This record gives sequence, C-alpha cells and structure tokens, in this order.
Amino acid sequence: MDLHQEYPLRLRINGQDRQFAVQSWVTLLDLLRERAGLTGTKKGCDHGQCGACTVLLDGKRINSCMTLAVMQDGREVTTVEGLAKGEQLHPLQQAFIDCDAFQCGYCTPGQLCSAVGLIAEGQAKSVDDVRELMSGNLCRCGAYPLITQAVTQVMGISGTPGEAVGDGKPFTTGPVLA
Ligand code: FES
Ligand code: FES
Repeated sequence: MDLHQEYPLRLRINGQDRQFAVQSWVTLLDLLRERAGLTGTKKGCDHGQCGACTVLLDGKRINSCMTLAVMQDGREVTTVEGLAKGEQLHPLQQAFIDCDAFQCGYCTPGQLCSAVGLIAEGQAKSVDDVRELMSGNLCRCGAYPLITQAVTQVMGISGTPGEAVGDGKPFTTGPVLA
C-alpha cells in the first residue's frame, strides 16, 4: 500500500464547495486546519477525549480528530468559522460573550459547535441534561458554569433550586487532561 497516494475529496465547508487531494490517513481535523486553512477548530488531545475539535457533519456534532477525511466525501461540514451570518454572530456566540463563558478560549470553538449540535438533537430539557450532553467537551479553565449558563440561556431553559447554574461542578467526572 502506498501511504503517499492521494484520493480526491469533495466537501462543502461552511457553505463553500471545496476539493482536495488527500492521503487516506489524514483526519478531518488536520484537513480543516492544515489544508482548508480553518484553524478555528482546535486540536486538544487528538484522541477523541476532549471535544476541542468538535465540528458539525451534515448538522451532527462529531469529533473531527476521530474520523478520516476521505470517509466524508460529499458531506457538509460546519466549523466555528461558519456559525456567524456575516457580521451577525450566532446566538450561541453572542451568549458566550454575554455570559463571559470562556477564559483562554481554546475549548470554545468545540463548545459552540457541540452546543449547536445539542440544540438540533432536541434532547436536552434541563440544566442537568445540558451538562450531561455537553460532557464530551472539556474545559481546562473550568468555565463550565458560565458555558452552561450561555447554552441554557439560548435554549430558554432556566435552572431550578437544586440544579443552579453556577454551582461550580464540571460537566464531567472523567480525567482532567494534564
Ligand atoms: S482533539 Fe479531538 S477530541 Fe480532543
Ligand atoms: S476556556 Fe480555556 S479551556 Fe475552556
């Protein structure tokens, strides 16, 4: 097998048709960052554990580090660069600003894309649901309470006394990346 062999690939990225020639082992994440020039999508763990690389594939959220680009031929990809409509921010982007829902911002593109996917899935009905269904997106800065606040604000979900937004608990009890 020739590892340098390239394969034709067509993707619609943020509303634009793009064509590439890629080796079979190139991940969607690396294609976006290194071939498509879209560096908003971040590489954290490169192992499907942090969510920093989350993008939307045909509207569904996916860890782009965990899929090969050639497997997605013909599909539609939305990255954080594609969320705003011209100068108008996506409501989630505006809510993240309004709620101060980030510190370093490294996880933010993934959090935003994941939240867009979460809303489209229509399963989250409570603050706890949002926390659980966003648990694949880690934030090393611990901005979870304000991220939750931003997402629930856009969804029109309000907290109840036992599940107050801002209680300082992270989404996940999993390992924190070193
Ligand atoms: S970089 Fe893809 S999940 Fe961490
Ligand atoms: S804002 Fe820094 S990792 Fe989330």
